[in-house]
Amino acid sequence: MYNKFSIYTAIAYANGKPHIGHAYEYVLADAITRYHRLLSGNDKVFFCTGMDEHGQKIFEKAESLDKTPQQLVDEITQDFKDLDVSLQISYNKFIKTTDEIHKKTAQDLWMKMYNKNDLYEKEYEGLYCIGCERYYKESELNERGECPDHLKKPILFKEKNWFFRLSKYADQVRGLIVENKIKIYPEERKNEIFSFIEGGVEDISFSRSKKLLTWGIEVPNDDTQVMYVWCDALTNYLTAGREVNVWGDSNMLNVIGKDILRFHALFWPSMLLSAGEENVQDILVHGHILSNGQKMSKTLGNVIDPQEVLANYNQALSANSSLSEWVSSEFFRYFILKNISPFSDGDVTHERMKELYNADLANGIGNLTNRIMKLCTTYLSDGYRPEPTEFPIEYTQSMQKYDVKSAFEYIFKLVSDLDNYMQTEQPFKVIKVDEEKGKAMLHNMRTQLYTVGRLLQPFMPRTSDTIKGLIKNNQMPEKPIFPRYE
Ligand code: MSP
Repeated sequence: MYNKFSIYTAIAYANGKPHIGHAYEYVLADAITRYHRLLSGNDKVFFCTGMDEHGQKIFEKAESLDKTPQQLVDEITQDFKDLDVSLQISYNKFIKTTDEIHKKTAQDLWMKMYNKNDLYEKEYEGLYCIGCERYYKESELNERGECPDHLKKPILFKEKNWFFRLSKYADQVRGLIVENKIKIYPEERKNEIFSFIEGGVEDISFSRSKKLLTWGIEVPNDDTQVMYVWCDALTNYLTAGREVNVWGDSNMLNVIGKDILRFHALFWPSMLLSAGEENVQDILVHGHILSNGQKMSKTLGNVIDPQEVLANYNQALSANSSLSEWVSSEFFRYFILKNISPFSDGDVTHERMKELYNADLANGIGNLTNRIMKLCTTYLSDGYRPEPTEFPIEYTQSMQKYDVKSAFEYIFKLVSDLDNYMQTEQPFKVIKVDEEKGKAMLHNMRTQLYTVGRLLQPFMPRTSDTIKGLIKNNQMPEKPIFPRYE
């Protein structure tokens, strides 16, 4: 165990705007980061996110838009950075794979693997889909012989590639997972990797001819070749971690989606073993966000744009909320963290979002804060001076397992307990007949509400600050925190 923590999201393909699935990953990783900052202090936690900017798809898209690839990726990167601001993603480092320092790290890693004799050349002939940037087996194509994703016939291509001896490391990586030296959350995902390894692991193609791929990092020992995605993209973590000296000197966590598990739980650990670098200890594998029960796709037209959701909620609420334009960001973070388990897929619909906003935020925590503060400002003369207390064990245990939803549910249990207390014990009546007792009850309620505020910090930072501020200053919110969404 190290006393530092470093957290890395996947880096998104710079080939389109961010969707709600990306937003989910960032909010999830941000909540975990903020929790660790609370526990250990800001300087002990490093949080990295960024963009995956190379590849033929990006090159071709830029050409079709009459832009240079760099222009295109810079523009798309800006969309992701804007989303990070809107969602309060508190990263320490935003890495781009076109950064010069990253290219150097990727080439350095390549040479370490090459010197270990783990990279070798092989002639390869196969059916190549430019869109997917990969070769297909005939059995993987549809009945018309097309790539199932792009519905285009792949081209027959013969080239010389560099290959990485993945087969040499598969058992060793398996061992690391069995011994929990690489921990995969949730447990079930382990089995996916084990059965993949049992099915037989082949070496992987590690480079592309410059004829097929023009926008990438040069292979240091062969000027006819460019690195394929593995050494180009996965290495971003090492670049970022090394820059601030936390690689191998912190508890390292990857937060990734289920579709890229194999790359992070087998390919990347094998590459690190080959190069003699430290491995990541924890991999949190989240599910996918579905839109109205279906996978999001441009063809179905059901892709949810997080910026649209935020704009929508702000238009309806920001003028009447004491959080002003941050009300939508706080809501979005709440919705995604409290209602979707990191360990399974989660469905998002506009109806459900609105329903939960009104139930949990407007009528729930917002209304409760209002009622408690109304009584406190009427009957108590002083603000509250919080005393340092430990976090409840239910909360910390959940967060330790990255079960953010359970930790959040624990907070909402406190909220509903407080609601029930208000209803059954009726402090507003008691105080009229027994002032001492009534005051003690109100003090007890604001202490509990303060705990709610404290525990909300990693998830809803501004709501947390607002609630704590009101209690400390013994004030009513000027406007409701969460006005009703009609
Ligand atoms: N560029 C690769 C990752 C390379 S990491 C060295 C990539 N990019 S991506 O843009 O397609 O996805 C970025 C992250 O978002 C991945 O972790 C992916 O699993 C996640 N998601 C993509 N679609 C998603 C949903 N619909 N729901 C939740 N997460 C999703 O993969």
